[in-house]
Amino acid sequence: MRKRIPLIAGNWKMYKTGQEAVDMARRLVQLISDVTETEVMIAPAFTALAPVSEVLKESPVALGAQNMHWEKEGAYTGEISASMLISAGCKYVIIGHSERRQYFGETDGTVNKKLGTAIQSDLIPIVCIGETEEQREAKQTYSVLDKQVTKGLNKYTAESLKKLIIAYEPVWAIGTGKTATPEQAQEAHQFIRGLIEKRFDDKLANSMRILYGGSVKPDNINRLMAMPDIDGALVGGASLDAEAFSKIIKFES
Ligand code: PGA
Repeated sequence: MRKRIPLIAGNWKMYKTGQEAVDMARRLVQLISDVTETEVMIAPAFTALAPVSEVLKESPVALGAQNMHWEKEGAYTGEISASMLISAGCKYVIIGHSERRQYFGETDGTVNKKLGTAIQSDLIPIVCIGETEEQREAKQTYSVLDKQVTKGLNKYTAESLKKLIIAYEPVWAIGTGKTATPEQAQEAHQFIRGLIEKRFDDKLANSMRILYGGSVKPDNINRLMAMPDIDGALVGGASLDAEAFSKIIKFES
C-alpha cells in the first residue's frame, strides 16, 4: 500500500504553442481516461495556460505554471503573478526549477519568497531541489540538499507547508538521459524526508510528497515508483509526447 497519493507532473518548459499544447492536452485526457489512482498535472508555457485550462475543465488533469513572481503585482516587466495564474486555471506552481536557478539567477532566497506567495494564494507549490554533478562528485549532495531545504523553507510553519511538494531533481540527470538509479533517488528522498522531520515534524514528513525528476521515461518509471519514498515524478522531455507521458502516468508497481 502506498502511503501517499502519487503525482505525475509534466513540465513542458519552452515548448509548444497554444494550439500545440491544446492538441496534446486533448490527446492526453483521452489516453488516461481510465486512470483513477494517480494525480496528474501539466505545466505548459504561460501563453497556453488559459486555452489548455478549457480542455482540462471536465477532466481530472490539473494545470500548473512553471514559474511565478512573489509580488502581488507591480512594475516587473515580463513577470507573472499568482492571481494571474489562478485566473488562468492553475492549481499548482513549480518553484526554483534548476533551469531557473542556473539561467535566471534564482536562489534559495527567491524560492523562499515565491513559496510564501504560493501558500498565501492557495497554489500548490512544487519546490525543486537537487545537486549538480560536481557537487555529487565532491560528496556534497546531502549538504546541498540540506541548504536548499533549510533556506528555501525557512520561516514557514509545518501547518502552512502541508500542501508543499518537493521535487528532487539532480541537475546532472535533467535532460541528459542519465537517470539517477532508483537506489540513488531513494537515498536522496529518504534524506529529504528526514530533513523535513528534523526541521518540522514527523506528521509533515510522512504526508509530504517527494517527486523524482531527471530523465524519467516509460522504461524507468516502474523501478523508480517501486521505491518507498518516491511519490511521483516531475517529467520534462518525455511529458511532451502524449503516448510516452501516458505510459509514465500508468506506471506499474
Ligand atoms: P527531463 O526534465 O525529464 O527532460 O530530464 C525534468 C525536469 O526538468 O523537470
